[in-house]
Amino acid sequence: MANDSEQRKYDISVIRPQMRAEDVCLRREAIEPVKLKEIKKALQAFHTLETMAANIYKFQITKEPSELNRQFIAAMCNEMTHLQDFQVKLYEYGFRPSIFRIAYWMVGFVFGFGSRILGKRAMLKTGIWVESKAVKHYAELLRNVEWDEQSRKMIEKDQADEDGHISRWRNLLGKIN
Ligand SMILES: [Fe+2]
Ligand SMILES: [Fe+2]
Repeated sequence: MANDSEQRKYDISVIRPQMRAEDVCLRREAIEPVKLKEIKKALQAFHTLETMAANIYKFQITKEPSELNRQFIAAMCNEMTHLQDFQVKLYEYGFRPSIFRIAYWMVGFVFGFGSRILGKRAMLKTGIWVESKAVKHYAELLRNVEWDEQSRKMIEKDQADEDGHISRWRNLLGKIN
């Protein structure tokens, strides 16, 4: 998990932060080719990961008017925000999403739908497992890539959101034990 101070730095109750048209900016210029390559790899990885995450929650939601479903809908919305965040970043840097993301869409569907069939505990455990992997991956890419200030803040906020998901699912899992 990201450290506590990082979690406190960002308001994770905001699942879709405001973005203005002027916030979009072209970031490719004056970046060395080696660094651009690293940024591309990292952004494509984030984007594919978020494609999977959004799908997991989407396919875990059922028609039942329960608190769990309400939380899954909020998580899905949050992951869709992350997906948008990285899609915008990719184009700002002059890149495109990876064509392999379709495979991760499928993985997300399999994890989401598969765990839904197995029940609440399996759904929450799947969420905790996937989000824990994501937080670690975020930490690695935050550490290893030289981000501009604005992008770094966005990535840190998204990482704090993933941490928030883990806490939420752990909490709910404790209640159904
Ligand atoms: Fe996410
Ligand atoms: Fe998440």
